[in-house]
Amino acid sequence: MDNLTNLLQKRTPGKSLPREFYTDEDIFAEEMERIFHSNWLFAGASCEIPNPGDYFTLPVGDESLIIIRDKNGDIHAHFNVCRHRGSKIATEERGCAKALVCPYHQWVYAPDGKLTNARLMGDTFRPEEYALRKAHIREAAGLIFVCVSDDAPDFGPMLDAIEPQLRAHGLDNAKVAARHNYEVRANWKVLVENNRECYHCRVSHPEFCMSNYDLGLPGDTRGDAEYYSLLDSEYERWENLGLSPKEVNFPDGDPHRISRLPLKEGFLTESLDGNLVAPLMGDFESPDGGSLRIITLPNFWGHANCDYAMTTRLLPISPDLTRVEVTFFVDEEAVEGKDYDPGTVAHVWKMTSEQDWELCENNHAGIKSLAYEPGPFSTLTESSVESFVVWYLGRLEGAARAARPVARSA
Ligand code: FES
Ligand SMILES: [Fe+2]
Repeated sequence: MDNLTNLLQKRTPGKSLPREFYTDEDIFAEEMERIFHSNWLFAGASCEIPNPGDYFTLPVGDESLIIIRDKNGDIHAHFNVCRHRGSKIATEERGCAKALVCPYHQWVYAPDGKLTNARLMGDTFRPEEYALRKAHIREAAGLIFVCVSDDAPDFGPMLDAIEPQLRAHGLDNAKVAARHNYEVRANWKVLVENNRECYHCRVSHPEFCMSNYDLGLPGDTRGDAEYYSLLDSEYERWENLGLSPKEVNFPDGDPHRISRLPLKEGFLTESLDGNLVAPLMGDFESPDGGSLRIITLPNFWGHANCDYAMTTRLLPISPDLTRVEVTFFVDEEAVEGKDYDPGTVAHVWKMTSEQDWELCENNHAGIKSLAYEPGPFSTLTESSVESFVVWYLGRLEGAARAARPVARSA
């Protein structure tokens, strides 16, 4: 792919990417193969499918997975492709099914993927040879990750980083309080880049900034002595509480970051007035955990407070369209209307997310203009955007290398 090789050479470090990276169909196809079909993707939370037969589908480019819980409680990621003639099996986004029945000729699969009935296939047909094909699936403290590649990267480093810090938040004993879906008219990288800086937060996110400092992102140099001394004292307190607050920041180019950050004084959670919006979750006996932030590239970020958690999942549809699901979780015992109000739980992050989508759509619209040229990242506040771009280009460089003609010796 000469175009890609040229584009990679055209990129200036420290500046935003050339337009084609956000708009070109061929680049998008490479991203699907090299990034979305080769890495671990966040699929959802295991508590979203609490009962046997509960499932949701996950579209990833031309692939589609069915994430389903079987009667033993195990969760599977099946390719949503019938082993008869290839029809898509599950056509709904979510549901509960004792069996997965293909709509074409009604082959029937158990939630664990075994083919249990295939009518009119004759005596010699061997159903045991036609179980659904599986993708890799792993769970980390209640978060489900999947990989459609045969050759999945080692999940160990991500698990080791997420598990000890998220476990206390009790996501596997939680339930969905609210869910919001969006189709954002922007390239998926515009959304990730926006998430990787808080340069825009003070002006654009009044609700977020009530409880949060707009500091703490790696490479953001704006923190003052007062902020760092607060960080030190909070780290010590969290350590004493067993919260294991170790900042993990894309180690060795790995695609994950975990950090626990303090909320502003008087705020027990990310709410508008500082008060809790739901009962304490998981191991928390008092509201003193700050806010745990997790990012896994290419498609996930989440915040876990002591009373609610929020996950954001990106799924690219095309170069200029990204589907986003923002989900809010509370303790599974919490009673809606008595212990929590879904609108109040979701308020800060629904507002913040929707403000971001508007910023991203504006950003993408400007990138499409002939007048766009790559602009400089702030060295004071946008180093983490550069880190993401470097990670991204590293994934694509393999594609350019593979496409480069090999010199033959005479
Ligand atoms: S394609 Fe599924 S039963 Fe025929
Ligand atoms: Fe934002």
